[in-house]
Amino acid sequence: MSEQLVEMVDNDGVVRLTINRPKALNALNREVIEALAEILDRLEGREGLRAVLITGAGEKSFVAGADITAMREMNPLEARDFAGQALKTIKRLETLPVPVVALVNGFCLGGGCELALACDWAVASDNAVFGQPEVLLGVIPGFGGSQRLPRRVGPAMALDLCTTGRKIDAQEALRIGLVNQVMSQAELEDYAATLTKQLSGNGPGAVRSAKQVIHDGMDQDLDSALALETSLFALCFASDEQREGMSAFVEKRKPNF
Ligand code: CAA
Repeated sequence: MSEQLVEMVDNDGVVRLTINRPKALNALNREVIEALAEILDRLEGREGLRAVLITGAGEKSFVAGADITAMREMNPLEARDFAGQALKTIKRLETLPVPVVALVNGFCLGGGCELALACDWAVASDNAVFGQPEVLLGVIPGFGGSQRLPRRVGPAMALDLCTTGRKIDAQEALRIGLVNQVMSQAELEDYAATLTKQLSGNGPGAVRSAKQVIHDGMDQDLDSALALETSLFALCFASDEQREGMSAFVEKRKPNF
């Protein structure tokens, strides 16, 4: 079988995607983005999907950015087209109706950091390095970083990272809220297994609604967002999941979702 640029493994509805271009530190070129888009064609609307984990092949890099060699000769129209293709694909990943988690196993730079930012949360191995170094190449972030980074870490830190281009280690990424946890590479594998177990045991409809209310609510004023929460909370009571989850608690057994 030919080697896939994005590998997919399905474990009980928890799908693990691996960006597989280790010789270029998993840099994102058109072919990788197309491979990701093809996988999203298969994942969107898929019955039984519980979560998506995304990581990079090898122990050195998650994704070291958009492919600089490919971008070097681009004119403005080609650059706009390339960024548009990536932005659209990354947005599709972000809006999957299940948790999407980045397992950051090394370099997470430029377009790689932007990919991680489109995930619901990220965990990192202790060798991970983060940054938006585009200014060092004479450009700015083009895969969403200028907008998702300030939303995640605040505008001052985003301005610091995007204008200095400095790289930060996993501990600093943890401190500023770019990642949720830091662990060793081996523990990253254990984390993936634990998360798979946790998410496959939860009510899928409730998990979907929790993601929806947080994402949609963040773009609204507080009162509208709280009204959205009330609607989605009430809607849970029209589901078998709510009956099963609460009955299982009262009957002192595990719920079967
Ligand atoms: N694009 C294309 N190729 C890349 C790459 C990238 N972003 N990052 C690394 N590579 C390639 C290198 O060219 C090298 O290839 P060869 O073996 O054929 O020479 C291979 O991956 C290994 O890289 P290094 O030899 O450089 O490895 P290192 O350990 O010495 O350094 C690194 C690692 C610090 C990550 C360094 O590779 C680096 O600085 N990479 C570029 C990081 C970067 O600037 N990313 C942002 C890109 S711009 C962007 O992403 C724009 C956007 O927002 C859309």
